[in-house]
Amino acid sequence: MIRIQTEHARPFIAPEILPMIEPRVTRANKTLIERSGAGAEFLGWLDLALKPDGQLISNIEEVAERIRTEADVLVCIGIGGSYLGADAMIQASRPYFGAGGPEILFAGHHMSGRYHEELLSYLRGKSVFVNVISKSGTTLEPALAFRFIRSFMEENFDDAHQRIIATTDAKRGALFQLATEKGYTRFVIPDDVGGRFSVITPVGLLPLAVAGVDISAFVSGFTSAATAHHEGTSTTANQYAALRWGLLASGYSTELLATFEPRLTRIGAWWQQLFGESEGKEGKGILPVSVQYSTDLHSLGQYVQQGQRNLMETFLMVDDDLGSLTVTHQAEDLDGLNYLANTPMSHINRQAYLGTLQAHHDGGVPTITITLPDLRPQSLGSLLYMFEHAVAVGGYMLDVNPFDQPGVEDYKREMFRLLGKTA
Ligand code: PA5
Repeated sequence: MIRIQTEHARPFIAPEILPMIEPRVTRANKTLIERSGAGAEFLGWLDLALKPDGQLISNIEEVAERIRTEADVLVCIGIGGSYLGADAMIQASRPYFGAGGPEILFAGHHMSGRYHEELLSYLRGKSVFVNVISKSGTTLEPALAFRFIRSFMEENFDDAHQRIIATTDAKRGALFQLATEKGYTRFVIPDDVGGRFSVITPVGLLPLAVAGVDISAFVSGFTSAATAHHEGTSTTANQYAALRWGLLASGYSTELLATFEPRLTRIGAWWQQLFGESEGKEGKGILPVSVQYSTDLHSLGQYVQQGQRNLMETFLMVDDDLGSLTVTHQAEDLDGLNYLANTPMSHINRQAYLGTLQAHHDGGVPTITITLPDLRPQSLGSLLYMFEHAVAVGGYMLDVNPFDQPGVEDYKREMFRLLGKTA
């Protein structure tokens, strides 16, 4: 079970704000569960969470098995919600080194010509499969990457059309047209699921299954968290949303999500998009910033300890799966580390967390801790659902539509103007 510790955050909430929290979070949660709020037409992720599609999961597993058998590399092309969930889950689930199975590479998540050029030359001579993922089918970054990679595939593989899997809209868009014309295997991104909520759809599930992640277990973790939050047997997401709202109203407008396990850094990137795009509108919202400790304590630590006091910090911790490495005893003790001899690294890392929590708390930073029991797909599925529920409730607490992202079009308009796009 995922746990949340709130005692180091509550004292920072202004006394006049405290009584406002409970009624507001209760109302926001009801709005989500009764599907009566803004953006309710984008709650398909809740349907998939509460009633998973077993047939779809089997189909995905079947296609993934073929790729796992035949591919050296799977290139996943997509940006934002069309890649961050898979990226996060793959990093969190796979061993750091020598994961086995096809290598999973990402493309179309930026516009570096150098990156894509090097990628194409790296792919040469390998057995390549491609999963191109775009709900709209028109996003520039993945569309450009797919143009290069499709040519590469057609030049290098007679069965290119059988090596490309398109995950896109059911009936519209340039990618849908192209995939239909070329006869690619297709998976659908449902109309009622926004990009940042799509990890539970083929957008996330196909790359995960190819990476060897047990997607049935992942979905089951997602479902059990959804059920518990709907039945009221879990309140983790609501507690998190309530604290964040109370802290924002008390002047804490930036949240750091801090992990002490490098395997969780991409979950931080996924979380950043989820909260940033869902809440950051109409001049409202908390700026979400993902940090990796203890690495970033040596870069941002000074700011967190003594900079502007508008920061809150959420630690994402794990109980188990932390390895068994212990510090060795050395007769000479030249590095002076014998005081740690026989101490597990996991214990040292935990003391780093406890010390950081205490220091930041003393420095005026409210802290929340969310703890996962382990890094199994089931637990990670529950975590991702919990965050999705929390951001939906948090958006309604702020009186914004948590499911739209009108602001992301603005840079595209300016960029397309500079590029001379006419239609
Ligand atoms: O959350 C979102 O909606 C965005 O991040 C999109 O997922 C991203 O822009 C990619 O869009 P598309 O899947 O249409 O290419």
